[in-house]
Amino acid sequence: DSTSNDASSRNPIVIAANRLPVMRTDDGWAPSPGGLVRALLPMLRESGGTWVGWTGNSDDHVEPFHVDGVDLHPVPISEEEIELYYEGFSNDALWPLYHDALRDSTYDAAQWEAYRSVNERFAVTLANIAPTDATVWIHDYQLQLVPGMLREQRPDVTIGFFLHIPFPPYELFSRLPWREEIITGLLGCDLVGFQRPKGATNFIACAQQLLGVDAHDGIIENAEYQTRVDSFPISIDFGEVEEMAAGRATRKRTSQIRARLGDPEVIMLGVDRLDYTKGIGLRLQAFAQLLEDGRLDPERHVLVQVATPTREAVEHYKDERAQIERLVGEINGRFSRIGLPVVHYLYQTLPYDELIALYRAGDVMLVTPFRDGMNLVAKEYAAAHIDGDGVLVLSEFAGAADELTDAVLVNPHDNEALQDAILQAVAMHRHERRHRMAGLRDQIRKSDVQGWADRFLTALLHAGEAP
Ligand code: F6P
Repeated sequence: DSTSNDASSRNPIVIAANRLPVMRTDDGWAPSPGGLVRALLPMLRESGGTWVGWTGNSDDHVEPFHVDGVDLHPVPISEEEIELYYEGFSNDALWPLYHDALRDSTYDAAQWEAYRSVNERFAVTLANIAPTDATVWIHDYQLQLVPGMLREQRPDVTIGFFLHIPFPPYELFSRLPWREEIITGLLGCDLVGFQRPKGATNFIACAQQLLGVDAHDGIIENAEYQTRVDSFPISIDFGEVEEMAAGRATRKRTSQIRARLGDPEVIMLGVDRLDYTKGIGLRLQAFAQLLEDGRLDPERHVLVQVATPTREAVEHYKDERAQIERLVGEINGRFSRIGLPVVHYLYQTLPYDELIALYRAGDVMLVTPFRDGMNLVAKEYAAAHIDGDGVLVLSEFAGAADELTDAVLVNPHDNEALQDAILQAVAMHRHERRHRMAGLRDQIRKSDVQGWADRFLTALLHAGEAP
């Protein structure tokens, strides 16, 4: 459509994200799975742009290379920086603070210094490679200082930033010892995008209270330019997921999975990174209580929980894993039968096609985070249900809850409510299931990841204009 041409055909787009959108394979590199990469790579290719990021390995000094016609520019990160910048400041200070302070943050000056210096390395790289008048799109909480640093070096480029996780209210954000620096960094942008409207208003309030800036109609006035602030809920590649779900191999795998699980009446499914924000423990407890009370029956109802390993060196993640694995053991010890566990727990990174087959096998999907920027699993589950059936139980505290109002919405802190939501999903009449699933699928189909990227880039292109 015209907006997408408008957005992608003008100037080269340069993307910066903590990770490059590729994985090492036996014979080189391949694009990482997932809609974001699929949506952004073609734009880069067409605009002649570049993606700047980390390969995921320490001290990996790789020369710039191409994958599928896209230029990739690695930024090396040392082992010590992984500890201080990535595991430390990004994932042990910012991550918990931005997620409702669900765990204590560590505030440490050496970690902050490493965060600053890795952000500086990204900014210098961008300043060196961005063509004149390029559009630079920076992603996520690991790189919040980059916009300000880049603007100083390259006032000609247009700078956008998208935060994939929640932005906290002032009451929490103001705990951060380097709060002014973070806001100043983000104010280097022409456009700052958030998942939910609340993230945008929280950010504006923080900028006003901490820096005394002037703001009106979603625009913050800086000395010589303006920063536009708005929300852009991210999505998935609906068509890609649908297509994978429809494939013969997926259908075969889905029936195989059902058979392997003992052909139960209801397969409940959880798919999360093993993160304390995801509410996996309380979900397991709710399931256990329902078995205990006889409201669910281990012969008829089973739970598959996929927990993808993530940030394993961070203490809060080790604790969370230990707690979840103890719970799984307790529940299975009490309710399983020989050869038929009631909880099937996989601490593994599954290939994307296996996940899609699992989504199709899942009669009830449990997405119950305490706080989540968006949660794309919820959207992938609905997109994979080309049969028009299946129920999504979704936390009110996931960004996806704004759009996916046909889910069974629940407050995961309220264990009774969580149990009721699970039972409601299990007992739901076929007619209601199909009606709700059609609503979910329509919603995701009409606002997919391509639309998200187009809307962001179009807004960025027009950010300097009067409202
Ligand atoms: O959206 C949050 C996020 O941190 C992304 O930046 C990242 O792609 C994903 O979660 C996985 O996290 P990590 O890169 O730390 O493995």
